[in-house]
Amino acid sequence: MVAQMTSVFSSAPQVLILGSGIAGLSAALKFARSPEVQVTLVCKADPAEGATRYAQGGIASVWSKSDSFAEHRQDTLVAGAGLCHQKIVELCVSDGPARVRELIDWGVQFTKTSKGSDPTEVFDLHREGGHGQRRILHADDLTGWAIEKSLLENCRKIPNIRILENHIAIDLIVQKQRQKGAYILDMQSGEIRTLAADVTVLATGGAGKVYLYTSNPDIATGDGIAMAYRAGARVANLEFMQFHPTCLYHPSAKNFLISEALRGEGAVLKNLAGEDFMSRHHPMGSLAPRDIVARAIDMELKRTGDKHVWLDSSPVIAKSGKPELIKKFPNIHEQCLGFGIDITEGLIPVVPAAHYICGGVLVDDNAQSSLKGLYAVGETACTGLHGANRLASNSLLEAVVFAERAVTHAQPLLALRTSASTLPAPLPDWDHGRAVELEEKIDIAATWLEIRSLMWNYVGIVRSDRRLAMAKRRLDLIKNEVNATYWNYLLTKDLIELRNLLTVADLIVQCATLRKESRGLHYTVDHPEIDERHFKHDTVI
Ligand code: FAD
Ligand code: SIN
Repeated sequence: MVAQMTSVFSSAPQVLILGSGIAGLSAALKFARSPEVQVTLVCKADPAEGATRYAQGGIASVWSKSDSFAEHRQDTLVAGAGLCHQKIVELCVSDGPARVRELIDWGVQFTKTSKGSDPTEVFDLHREGGHGQRRILHADDLTGWAIEKSLLENCRKIPNIRILENHIAIDLIVQKQRQKGAYILDMQSGEIRTLAADVTVLATGGAGKVYLYTSNPDIATGDGIAMAYRAGARVANLEFMQFHPTCLYHPSAKNFLISEALRGEGAVLKNLAGEDFMSRHHPMGSLAPRDIVARAIDMELKRTGDKHVWLDSSPVIAKSGKPELIKKFPNIHEQCLGFGIDITEGLIPVVPAAHYICGGVLVDDNAQSSLKGLYAVGETACTGLHGANRLASNSLLEAVVFAERAVTHAQPLLALRTSASTLPAPLPDWDHGRAVELEEKIDIAATWLEIRSLMWNYVGIVRSDRRLAMAKRRLDLIKNEVNATYWNYLLTKDLIELRNLLTVADLIVQCATLRKESRGLHYTVDHPEIDERHFKHDTVI
């Protein structure tokens, strides 16, 4: 069954936000401060579902008196391996404390320390890989959930925000290089709506599902990046997929993360022979930047033939005791117990998995893409903050900083609508041509698995020219098949996601093939050195 709904125009300025994680929700709360603006927040699952709710470690921001903007900036630049945009790093770091205060005002309960009466020292601060200081505010080890819950509760109370859940955006509508809205499939009714907007914000999160093993939830299929690319917006730096070093290794654990904050408290990576192999790779040992740790584990697994390494929490226990370990990491403790692993006994089996895409929709310092009125915020965007490798816990920070900037920058576009005397011409409705209902889902599932497996095997932590060429050949075949059949069937969520996943996989391979050097998260055995002369720039497509 399929129906269509024509775009409904109104004289109120319309903001369309695709995604209800930290990026989408914080943008919605800010846009809605103007009571005449109508905000529509679209999410393809339950509104609380997305990477945000699973964030563990926390949000990085200079908070303690012993820390400084200069140090946070420096740690970000070092992790980014020469590709961070200095100005963006500067503004994210210096806006950080104000944005964190805003989260607190919205009701987010960060964990407090019992010590000290100085307000700057009230919050307990974690440390993670690549950070020279304790600067990560957290809510135990469930920071993302604390943020998602508070922001969503606030949005639900505001009359000029409407939330469309279980609605998936299919494509953006663009006319003369300006965004005009999007086509949205109501997954329950099968209806495709044409939503007109003066401003559209892509806040659709990451693309970890492009890889076979990932810490990401199922929604992370790169939809925003794929839609923007199809609409003609520029995308960048997609070769920089961050692999988190410590995802739980267990046959029933689909994607459970063991926070880097545990290493920040003293836990150490060891191979199955009990050797602290990280001390051979980097002076910061287990707390080295993520790209280095993930690659070292990958090398260790290839060298030994083992299936996982250990994260040994016994140094934390020796320092603080078991009750303190449980107090600091209650969720990790409970979830691991559910898999029969007691973190207070010391050894936790871990492996790297695709975690965070540093590239995305290329935006300027106001979060605007190369298409007027189209903004991208959160993991879907490439702002220049992360360069070739994101510093841990900088992504929640980036999302709130750029939500603020997008909202401020978009005000003149909304004011234009308020002052306009006529309504714009209606947009064309979605045309499903002669499409028929899909009979079997098996093809989609099989193709999805094929893409994810080939990306893991050929475009993973360690790459080569040969493997990238193989990936391209296979993806070209799959693209031909999918393009030949895509328009024959009425759209479903699975079909839409498959096309997006394929587009993003293809873009990752394109970017990785262009970068003939090893930098940050992109490591290739054929060009193992950094090449400052030819490649100290973003990969823009
Ligand atoms: P998300 O929170 O992923 O939200 C995406 C939204 O887009 C969802 O609402 C989804 O339904 C919607 N959506 C997607 N496609 C469509 C579509 N086609 N149509 C409609 N809606 C769509 N970062 C840190 O800084 N600190 C941490 O401690 C941390 N820990 C992490 C732990 C885990 C396990 C993971 C996976 C990530 C972690 N990260 C962390 C990264 C961080 O959580 C994410 O980068 C961030 O939450 C992304 O927020 P977002 O708003 O961009 O997207
Ligand atoms: C973690 O808690 O290890 C994740 C932090 C991040 O990805 O920023």
